[in-house]
Amino acid sequence: MTELIHKLEREHSLEVEEYRYLLENRNDNAAHLLAEKAVKARVQYYGHDVYVRGLVEFTNFCRNNCYYCGIRAGNKNAERYRLTEDEILTCCDLGYGIGYRTFVLQGGEDPIYTPKRIESLVHRIKEKYPDCAVTLSVGEHPKDVYRSWFSAGADRYLLRHETADAEHYARLHPDDLTLDKRKRCLYDLKDIGYQVGCGFMVGSPWQTAEHLAKDLKFIEEFRPHMVGIGPFIPHKDTPFKGMAAGTLEETLFLLSIVRLMLPEVLLPATTALGSIKENGRELGVLSGANVCMPNLSPKDVRSKYLLYNNKLSSGAEAAEDFELLKARMKNIGYDVVVARGDSKIKNN
Ligand code: 5AD
Repeated sequence: MTELIHKLEREHSLEVEEYRYLLENRNDNAAHLLAEKAVKARVQYYGHDVYVRGLVEFTNFCRNNCYYCGIRAGNKNAERYRLTEDEILTCCDLGYGIGYRTFVLQGGEDPIYTPKRIESLVHRIKEKYPDCAVTLSVGEHPKDVYRSWFSAGADRYLLRHETADAEHYARLHPDDLTLDKRKRCLYDLKDIGYQVGCGFMVGSPWQTAEHLAKDLKFIEEFRPHMVGIGPFIPHKDTPFKGMAAGTLEETLFLLSIVRLMLPEVLLPATTALGSIKENGRELGVLSGANVCMPNLSPKDVRSKYLLYNNKLSSGAEAAEDFELLKARMKNIGYDVVVARGDSKIKNN
């Protein structure tokens, strides 16, 4: 174990079988050593700074039917909403005043929010806040659509690959969604010049150490600028309602591995992590994460963007509670900074 961790620290790479061995033999000692090395690596590149992103969940309409997701098209119990462009701009105004310099526009694949509308939205935000980064997270689209948003000023794109094993992917998604299509989008985004984020859920149904090892190898080879990793949490109105949630410990272990693999990566302590454990975010940062993404959506819609049960959107998870987040990070020796917080990984 120890030898593998040292190898990962030294070479930023392991064989798939070695990743698998690490995961299958996870224990407290190994987790401790990994976290220590992960923190050392993150401090080397980013010091004790924590970057924040204001997350605007602007529509929960979605044409897709991913089996795990609470806003899947088939969930008739979901209360649907869609913010107007002006409402989104108001969120950014509020966020800018608080200190956010990155806005993440996240939504389902909502056909009413056409590529043209998103393009104009990006234009308006960048015009008003040229010193801010705009991150889009709106699913799969043709390359020319991604290109039009990039030309309008979008800087980054989040699209989790969900699982790097095609068969596992097929068990989490209906037939019209495939790993090949997902990967195609990720390569297109990178080729266009976005800072790109991929990622996966920990403990998703039927996930094995072999699947996770493949996820790690995919990330190692793809070299994303950002990696989103959070525990799977069942949602009551989905086919996976009875499934077990992913664990805190395994998520933290994976965060540390990813930090050692890609020392310069932007790695959020995700909302899902904060939702399964009160101090999940802090534990994420202490395992190598360096980003937090508090919720900047209007308060009355926050509870409707319910990807999973008991999703947090209050306290340090709420963008307006900047001071609370700052205090909580200060408490563990980290500083929330007002900055765009770009990735130090160059596009390749
Ligand atoms: N539990 C945890 N994460 C989820 N996501 C969607 N549904 C769930 C769930 N039930 C994640 C997916 C998606 C991201 C926006 O949220 O990985 O890419």
